[in-house]
Amino acid sequence: MNMLEQINQTAEYIRSKVTDIPNTAIILGTGLGSLVDYMDDKLFIPYKEIPNFPVSTVEGHSGNLIFGTLGGVKVIAMQGRFHYYEGYDMKQVTFPVRVFRALGVDTLFVSNASGGMNKEFVVGDVMIITDHINLFPENPLRGKNFNELGPRFPAMTEAYSKELIALADKIAFEKNIRLMHGVYVGVTGPTFETPAEYEYFRIIGGDCVGMSTVPEVIVANHAGMRVFGLSVITDLGGKDVTQVPTHEEVQQAAVLAQPKCLEIMREMVVRSAH
Ligand code: HPA
Repeated sequence: MNMLEQINQTAEYIRSKVTDIPNTAIILGTGLGSLVDYMDDKLFIPYKEIPNFPVSTVEGHSGNLIFGTLGGVKVIAMQGRFHYYEGYDMKQVTFPVRVFRALGVDTLFVSNASGGMNKEFVVGDVMIITDHINLFPENPLRGKNFNELGPRFPAMTEAYSKELIALADKIAFEKNIRLMHGVYVGVTGPTFETPAEYEYFRIIGGDCVGMSTVPEVIVANHAGMRVFGLSVITDLGGKDVTQVPTHEEVQQAAVLAQPKCLEIMREMVVRSAH
């Protein structure tokens, strides 16, 4: 089966389980895990039951597609994402986004954890991703292009919707939430960066660095979707920073920032619905 047939088979399976398919999808990265608690009328479909879906492996990431409503708006939430550092290839990492598009989803919300290089940032800050720098060794669109999915050479000029960024700023202002803006540098991991690498990423124009999101956002743009992303700054890096980042520290900072992320995302979903 080629990729197109796989996408269609998976979309068919989901349509057989869910009658009213949302046009908004949310990838619940770090900072948004408990968004599920705010959803109503939930239907869980474990990844392992979905044909062609990879199965997630990382500790603390359960793998389910969750269909339901958030603030009255129908959404698909992806609980557990696939990271390149786990060994999945780029086609697997981005496969769920392909399926979302096939189901008619046109708006994608994402969140992640990252290390901050911007000297204005503090741990626990939440950053609107205004743009990214792809430093993964491979582009998810490498290989045969299916014109049904999108163009061979897609523009990435507005990878993150300016309209959605403006809406988030408005919501943050109304709710008195400090939201930073910045460029997310996407790398493979699983190592955190050396001090020199954090410095290098800052010099090339990055504000934070993380190990996810960029592949999914490239594929969403290829497919013509609107994208909005938040990044939780869970640690800081640079040549003057001596603190050693750990997975536990990342998780703790993410828990602290979670209420801000949840509030912004819930309002975003409600006000961007159409
Ligand atoms: N580097 C890369 N990925 C990360 C970091 C970091 O410092 N923090 C959380 N995810």
